Amino acid sequence: MREVPEPTLVIAPSLLAADFGRLNDEVAAIERAGGNWLHLDVMDGHFVPNISFGPLVIKALRRHSNLIFDLHLMIAPVDAYLADFAAAGADHITIHAEAGPHLHRSLQAIRALGKKAGVAINPATPIDAVAHVLDLIDIINVMTVNPGFGGQKFLTSQLPKIAALRRMVQASGRAIHIEADGGVDAATAPAAIAAGADVLIAGSAIFGKPDYAAAIAALKPGP
Ligand code: DX5
Ligand code: ZN
Repeated sequence: MREVPEPTLVIAPSLLAADFGRLNDEVAAIERAGGNWLHLDVMDGHFVPNISFGPLVIKALRRHSNLIFDLHLMIAPVDAYLADFAAAGADHITIHAEAGPHLHRSLQAIRALGKKAGVAINPATPIDAVAHVLDLIDIINVMTVNPGFGGQKFLTSQLPKIAALRRMVQASGRAIHIEADGGVDAATAPAAIAAGADVLIAGSAIFGKPDYAAAIAALKPGP
């Protein structure tokens, strides 16, 4: 499944909003509904004020799914856990620019593990945080809410940041995905796409709906 070329707009359902009592079924349903990547939000109760799940859960889901696993690690410190998450079945490992003093070293470690590397930036973090690591990354995650919880309101203040990052990425000549993460729904998706996001991460807007395929379709631009 992972050999399939990536679509222009990637939809990455966030498992955080799924029914945790039926995780495996939920992942299978997303695959059937046409989700492109599975976004996995790992929270430590320290870097962010919430705790979600760790490598054991990801490893268990990996056995039953061919989806690309897009990990978003909201943990600090992160370095000691990178190998565990890689072994658990991550395809992408995104870490926060704010989570430690050695972002460059952590990104090198992710690449050495053979995974695509990403950097997430909080709403207050300027785009300069990624300017000097573009050569090491495949993904930039722009938090469009404060990390830690699903179901929050999309911060339109982040749209100019997405646009500036798109220009930065274009100037770099590298194919780097820009994710909009948090509060993305059918109403906010068009602005995120217009600003330059090519990956939409959505939790409640997909898992909160009865028909996942219809919810995914509603995030895409109309014909
Ligand atoms: C928040 C997470 C998001 C979250 C999105 O810390 O990074 O991925 O699950 O959830 P919604 O789409 O409900 O805002
Ligand atoms: Zn996330």
